[in-house]
Amino acid sequence: MQSKFFIKSTQIAKTIMEMKVSHGNTVLDATMGNGHDTAFLADLVGDEGIVFSFDIQDIALENTKNKLNELGLLNRVKLIKDSHENIDDYINDKVDLAIFNLGYLPSGNHSIITKPDSTLKAIKKVLELLSKHGILLVVVYYGHQGGNEEKKCVEDFLKSLDQREFNTLKFDFINQKNNPPVLIGVEKKG
Ligand SMILES: C[S@@+](CC[C@H](N)C(=O)[O-])C[C@H]1O[C@@H](n2cnc3c(N)ncnc32)[C@H](O)[C@@H]1O
Repeated sequence: MQSKFFIKSTQIAKTIMEMKVSHGNTVLDATMGNGHDTAFLADLVGDEGIVFSFDIQDIALENTKNKLNELGLLNRVKLIKDSHENIDDYINDKVDLAIFNLGYLPSGNHSIITKPDSTLKAIKKVLELLSKHGILLVVVYYGHQGGNEEKKCVEDFLKSLDQREFNTLKFDFINQKNNPPVLIGVEKKG
């Protein structure tokens, strides 16, 4: 038997991206990987919008560039090979939505993972850059070594945000085995 609505965190994240992002928006994919979210966002922002997309691995930039080229979406994406903790070196505008997928690139080198320190630095900078009613989505994969530590760091920080400024919500499949990814969403209040 299959679920119809509560399928997986990545699907819920997509639904939120569709609800929030419109033509002309400025958005951020902080963990480009193979470019699934980057391409999805590039479609949503249209010709006048822009997607900033970060990764530290050449293979991520190469795969994503190829995917965007095939889809005819490369013109609205800035592919940046740098750690997301440096986003403020590249983005001056307010950001309408940002997404992180924490963990490793499934088809790549599993020892190259997001790390608590740089992830937290990046998340703090993103919260500064978010526009009013801007949304941060963090999909936390944590089944790998070090994953639990990163999950705790991120959750502890996002739990501590002042509720007068932010609303934070967690989607967690609490009856599933094998550590399915958790989705945390933050909205900056207006
Ligand atoms: C779970 S994968 C992302 C999957 C991606 N959303 C997709 O659509 O394929 C995590 C990615 O984060 C990248 N990464 C790790 N540390 C990073 C950092 N400090 N800054 C930016 N990207 C990083 C990895 O290289 C990896 O490609």
